[in-house]
Amino acid sequence: MYRALIAGVGHFVPERIVSNFELEKMMETSDEWIRERTGIIERRWINEEDNNADLAQRASLKAIEQAGLEVEDIDFIILATLSTDYFFPGTGCFLQEKLGLPGIGALDIRNQCSGFVYGLSIADQYIKTGMYKNILLVGSEVQSRGLDFTTRGRDVAVIFGDGAGAAVISRSKDNKKGVLATCLHADGRHAKELWQELPGSARKPMMSHAIIDEPGIYPYMNGRYVFKHAVTKFPEVIMEVLQTAGVDKSEIDLVIPHQANMRITEAVRMKLELSEEKVYSNIQKYGNTTAASIPIAISEAIEEGRIKEGSLVCLAAFGSGFTWASALIRF
Ligand code: ACO
Repeated sequence: MYRALIAGVGHFVPERIVSNFELEKMMETSDEWIRERTGIIERRWINEEDNNADLAQRASLKAIEQAGLEVEDIDFIILATLSTDYFFPGTGCFLQEKLGLPGIGALDIRNQCSGFVYGLSIADQYIKTGMYKNILLVGSEVQSRGLDFTTRGRDVAVIFGDGAGAAVISRSKDNKKGVLATCLHADGRHAKELWQELPGSARKPMMSHAIIDEPGIYPYMNGRYVFKHAVTKFPEVIMEVLQTAGVDKSEIDLVIPHQANMRITEAVRMKLELSEEKVYSNIQKYGNTTAASIPIAISEAIEEGRIKEGSLVCLAAFGSGFTWASALIRF
């Protein structure tokens, strides 16, 4: 059996920085409210000319370069996003076209904030069984084109940002490094507490002029309900993956949680009794970038020297579905 190694990681965030003060001009909100409740100071918004697949491509090229590979070495693509460029086909196909890799498999997964960790678990299985050698795994989001930037949508609109992160997951025979364990969960009973209802085929007919005026075309979040579940499920799934891998909490060098909200991250850190240096946060700069948040954070943590050769890193995510997931990786 092979081991799945993170051979390279890269990220790309759009140049346009949108501060909380800029949002104050669009809706009734304040820098103070946003910072206090979420920890977010600014986020990035995509340029007019780009789409989701463009962000994904730029992050991917960096990851492939860091892995010391050529684009042609990639033999499978997994792309996690909730903000696809088109209703269908998936953004993975558009990324594949942009990378010039016709013929290789491209799989889109829709697991929202847990998408990258779900994708890592899928890649891990394909690598272990020998099906693929170098899988490109991407989390990429364009949230800024789908939010309600009036006061009506302020609880959600201030949280999300755009960006992409990518990793090359490669085959290795080194038993000490790579993905040690992954844990995946979902509970559809809570699906409507964090969701976007429209457009969807549950509506008959799916499309009409009238739906444009419905609140269901924007994401809905029951903030307190999400908070309550997130602060329980994050620690649970972190402890589960440690137990699965037979590793003690004290051995972890860095926890990278999905960047949902600074208050959630802080509550999880305190519950697990981890020091501040052991939990990574960059939500201040980017907001919540859903499936992209974990790979962007891994990429920055490597750049900052917080992940080194041999580091034991725990990834954890919670989000819409509800879905939650974790992974333990030796770099
Ligand atoms: N600016 C100013 N005021 C606002 C804003 C805003 N952007 N949004 C909501 N408010 C108002 C509300 O309307 C409410 O006003 P009212 O008292 O007059 O009714 C007041 O602020 C307080 O609202 P609450 O919902 O009670 O505020 P709360 O303290 O719960 O904070 C928040 C809201 C930040 C959403 C919180 O519930 C939370 O952190 N939830 C976790 C959800 C989350 O972070 N999700 C991330 C995305 S999902 C994921 O990645 C897992």
